[in-house]
Amino acid sequence: MQEQRAHWGSSVAFILAATGSAIGLGNLWKFPFITWDNQGGAFVLVYLACIAGVGLPIMMAEILIGRRSQRSVVGALKEAVGPGWGIVGAWGVLCGFILLSYYTVIAGWSLFYFVQTLGWSLSAVPPGLQTGDLFGQQVSNGRLQLGLSLVFSVATVAVVYLGIHRGIERLTRTVLPILFGILLLLLFSALRMEGSAEAVAFIFRPNFAELEPGGLLEALGHSFFTLSLGMGAMITYGSYVDRSQSIVKMSAVIVLLDTVIALIATVIMFSVIFSVAGMEDQVGASTVGMLFISLPELFYSEVPFGNWLGPLFYVLVALAALTSTISLLEVVASYLIDQHGVARHKSTLICGATVFVFTILAALSFGAVPNLSSFELFEGKQGWFANADHFVSNWMLPTGGLAITIGAGWFMSREATSSELLDGNEPGWFHYGVWRFFIRFIAPAAVGAVIVAVLFFGVDFS
Ligand code: PHE
Repeated sequence: MQEQRAHWGSSVAFILAATGSAIGLGNLWKFPFITWDNQGGAFVLVYLACIAGVGLPIMMAEILIGRRSQRSVVGALKEAVGPGWGIVGAWGVLCGFILLSYYTVIAGWSLFYFVQTLGWSLSAVPPGLQTGDLFGQQVSNGRLQLGLSLVFSVATVAVVYLGIHRGIERLTRTVLPILFGILLLLLFSALRMEGSAEAVAFIFRPNFAELEPGGLLEALGHSFFTLSLGMGAMITYGSYVDRSQSIVKMSAVIVLLDTVIALIATVIMFSVIFSVAGMEDQVGASTVGMLFISLPELFYSEVPFGNWLGPLFYVLVALAALTSTISLLEVVASYLIDQHGVARHKSTLICGATVFVFTILAALSFGAVPNLSSFELFEGKQGWFANADHFVSNWMLPTGGLAITIGAGWFMSREATSSELLDGNEPGWFHYGVWRFFIRFIAPAAVGAVIVAVLFFGVDFS
């Protein structure tokens, strides 16, 4: 006897869970630093085009595949698209597995900064503190890294263990509103800083001469990463949606919130960098640590009540990361649950423990273990973490996304997709024909073109 499948309590519950998956380290940590590395402006514009032209249609496609089949990713693709499509689902599960293994490490950093800022707030900020140096020390401390990742993995497992209602839904409902509030407060403080005009210009003034072809791939890859697309997280979450909820409206809200939050986080961080003397050099040495290098400056100089907001902010970063890691673990664990009949509790524990083995490799690849930290598979990417992230973000997610858009556009019938999207609740601005055109032609062409260009012109691929 199969148990009845759980469903989200309401559209809002689904939106919050899916937005929680989308908003995470991709927005707060990764987007600012890749925007910096790619010189802002033009990169941001390409990214926004990818979000609108590729991300949004695929978001709708993934949710509809999930809702239609009421199965997690492997079963969903088999059922909604065709029997052979299970392999694309398996690719997604693998991708979720690897992504979760290294994402947890950065999430662990937010725990470190929580404890650190709490200490400063309660006593005092050490005189002459160089946040760049502090960052370098913490990432290369192997024991510390393992401990932080372990704590974070246990938290992820605990939430997924509790299930859709008591775990995922309850957590995302509490966390997201507070996160929005704090970010707005930080934005207002940042905009009052003298460097904010320069920051906004850097982000929004396009200069196409600065954009390298590798940046195109990065913008495309990141649009998948930040929206949790291309590996079945949205298919899996979509499988807990029931038919009374409009896919189109919910997708638009998720995509919009995710994009706005990424831009806000970037404006905040760049305002600090352009305002504080010497900060550009400090950050320049390790753009990866931008979130942890530039923000502490803001809290202890400019922000009203920064003493309080600092620690609170890093708790929220951790929670934003947690609402993403649970969606990754859910993809992997629900595969065992749906396809192999393993009970949720057991599946969550098995998957969580196996993923952690690989987390260890990523945790030690920031200097703690030299061999893990220095090898270079992809040009310019050093160490396990950087290479795993490059491979997942820029290759696994876009190829998975390409397969999903081809599946939804060419292998599912018009009746099947239109009956899901035109469910009587769709908003007036939505035209099914436009969606179908994008999912059949624009999205696959864009993803295919970027992949081919990079492969054949060898830009970023060594
Ligand atoms: N979207 C998440 C972020 O921006 C990362 C993620 C990717 C989560 C894929 C789930 C699936 O941080």
